[in-house]
Amino acid sequence: MAEVQGGNCSHNGVGDEGLVPKKRAGLWIPYRGCWLTPEAVKSVKLVEEQFQARSDDVLLVTYPKCGTTWLKALAFTVTNRRLHTVAGDDAHRHPLLARHPQDLVPYLEMPYRQLQQHPVAELEELASPRLLSTHLPVTLLPPSVLHLGCRVVYLCRNPKDVLVSLWHFINKVNQKYTIDKAFELFCKGETVYGPIWEHCLGFWNKAAVSSSESESDSRRTVLFLKYDEMMAQPVEHVKMLAEFLRVPFTDEEVSSGVVEDVVRLCSFDKLKSVPVNSSGVCDRIGGLPMENSSYFRAGKVGDWANHLTQEMANKLDAIVEEKLTGSGLTF
Ligand code: A3P
Repeated sequence: MAEVQGGNCSHNGVGDEGLVPKKRAGLWIPYRGCWLTPEAVKSVKLVEEQFQARSDDVLLVTYPKCGTTWLKALAFTVTNRRLHTVAGDDAHRHPLLARHPQDLVPYLEMPYRQLQQHPVAELEELASPRLLSTHLPVTLLPPSVLHLGCRVVYLCRNPKDVLVSLWHFINKVNQKYTIDKAFELFCKGETVYGPIWEHCLGFWNKAAVSSSESESDSRRTVLFLKYDEMMAQPVEHVKMLAEFLRVPFTDEEVSSGVVEDVVRLCSFDKLKSVPVNSSGVCDRIGGLPMENSSYFRAGKVGDWANHLTQEMANKLDAIVEEKLTGSGLTF
């Protein structure tokens, strides 16, 4: 896996204006069944036309606020652990202590690719095997990703926690995005990259097809993960992730505690405390600078209970249950 990938954002801030584009957030339009900003639509079209997948690419796919930052940290650390040891004398030089996890694995569609300074061709320069990420639903993935059968790690999360996390994130740049407004739009599926149930179902179904067609686990092309389960059993999930990424932990690594070291390094508390993550501002989206710390808020399962009424929770649960009926996917 290539050593360090992705953008090179300063964490020193972008000037006095702080978080700028209040007018941008919340303005989504439907594009082929998915709600996106107009800028994102242009970017997605460019990616669709220009991105050339390689058969050994691995894509980390998430609906926003499902734990992308965590998954990027874990996948990067697991795949690069021979180059960048997680414990011992060199551990203080680990890239996660110097770079925001978001910047170690680049997105396909962000920063928005219509911007001159972020052409799709940037991704061509990365050495194989590439670790890439995206929030795109399966229906908008570039055709070559599907044709070549690139491996996908999909991470989803309880929609109530996603709603609350997304609301906090967007509310930082758009104070008009109240929890009531966020709830109303989320229930209609009208949120960025939404509807969330379509997003999850697309990859859930793809995972089911992939495992029914594969004779062995090693040939599966989709690893479907849930944030809540990863939080409950991180060691088991990191082992599973390493197997899927074709860099399984050796018996020696397991007995010497390397898996636990990876879990600790990528834990919410550890990453939140790293200066590169706790200070500064960076524009990773395209015209939307955000504080680096905004990717590390509560990091809990069930925080929705502190922000949604029981009535709201029941309504959203009922909608999600109805949308997922018959699929076997539950939250
Ligand atoms: P909360 O807002 O509920 O705290 P994304 O990375 O997809 O933008 O998701 C952000 C969510 O993941 C936030 O959830 C954030 O706190 C949480 N998160 C970030 N890093 C994490 C980590 N290392 N472990 C667990 N959760 C993490």
